[in-house]
Amino acid sequence: MSASVLFVCLGNICRSPLAEAALRAEAARAGLAVEVDSAGTGDWHVGSPPDRRAQAVARRHGIDISGYRGRQVTAEDFRRFDYVFALDGENLKNLRRLRPSDGTAELRLLMDLVPGREGSGVTDPYFGEDAGFDVTWDDVTRAAKAIVERLRDPR
Ligand code: 4NP
Repeated sequence: MSASVLFVCLGNICRSPLAEAALRAEAARAGLAVEVDSAGTGDWHVGSPPDRRAQAVARRHGIDISGYRGRQVTAEDFRRFDYVFALDGENLKNLRRLRPSDGTAELRLLMDLVPGREGSGVTDPYFGEDAGFDVTWDDVTRAAKAIVERLRDPR
């Protein structure tokens, strides 16, 4: 049975789609079967493709995310997924409020898996410079590698 992982940010058009793409790529490289999805705590971008700057950085790394569509996280996600990763502390706070009492998913701050980055968030690149998306890509790739290691060698 393969593990399932959900990434959650605010809009589901910048950070969490890139985290989804990075984990799909790292899992494929490792030959690991993982179910991966992403969602936002907000509903402004439901049905929208990722931000064009997010699409561009993924494309520079050989990945096409133009078919991804935004969706809002639901209570059901906490029963459906094994892991729910919050991209930043605000997302984590909102997810703790949304989590139903019968939710089984392990809810974590994403960067807690990256040594030296515990407790930190992935900075929201939406209102910043294009270069911010490269920083996002680096962060989510490091986290994706850590997730693959964790899933291969559960401790
Ligand atoms: P994300 O970035 O949470 O990484 O997808 C954002 C996208 C849109 C908005 C905020 C953050 N927004 O306010 O519309």
